[in-house]
Amino acid sequence: MAYIVVATQNEHKVDEYRELLKDQGVELRSLKEYPNFPEVEENGKTFAENAALKAVAASKYCDVPAFADDSGLEVEALDGRPGIYSARYAPTSAERIEKLLGELEGCENRRARFVCVIAIAINGEVIETFEGEVKGVITAIPRGEGGFGYDPVFQPDGYDQTFGEMAPELKNSISHRANAVKKAVEFIEDEMSVLDSDF
Ligand code: IMP
Repeated sequence: MAYIVVATQNEHKVDEYRELLKDQGVELRSLKEYPNFPEVEENGKTFAENAALKAVAASKYCDVPAFADDSGLEVEALDGRPGIYSARYAPTSAERIEKLLGELEGCENRRARFVCVIAIAINGEVIETFEGEVKGVITAIPRGEGGFGYDPVFQPDGYDQTFGEMAPELKNSISHRANAVKKAVEFIEDEMSVLDSDF
């Protein structure tokens, strides 16, 4: 069995990844199994750099192949902000949404995209990165209780619902993470042997 550890403390993400990888013959381990894994400072300048920092640290610490993602929301009218600072834009999810809607007040261009970059590392070295995106608009008010983060104010193109209103299965099939993970899975299927690791 191939193992891969997902380097995130976000249990929402672990659940999403477990669901996305369930038919791949890859056993997903979470950092819960490595409680002393030190927090990695995300001081990269891009999603890819931050994903790489986390994947490299986890592959070294856990001694198994690791992948990590970095993701965020890029809003066209804000020149791509909050971008890599999406998690740090304001202290809580509710405040982040309030701040975003405040910045966009009266703004006609509501275009935005979620971006996710996944990095896979083995023995402390990045072997590949994959980018996924989903485009949509920022709604006027939050709608829906599902998902996390900016989900209640993001309505993907082609749908009437926000991510917050959608069934998780639907979000998980069209999200930025899903699109990045599809590319990563194709790579994992082709390169399965690199992930075979006994420990
Ligand atoms: P990360 O954990 O460093 O990737 O932080 C990404 C931040 O971007 C999260 O804390 C959320 O605020 C936001 N974000 C990323 N993906 C999603 C998503 O699927 N839905 C809503 N917000 C997201």
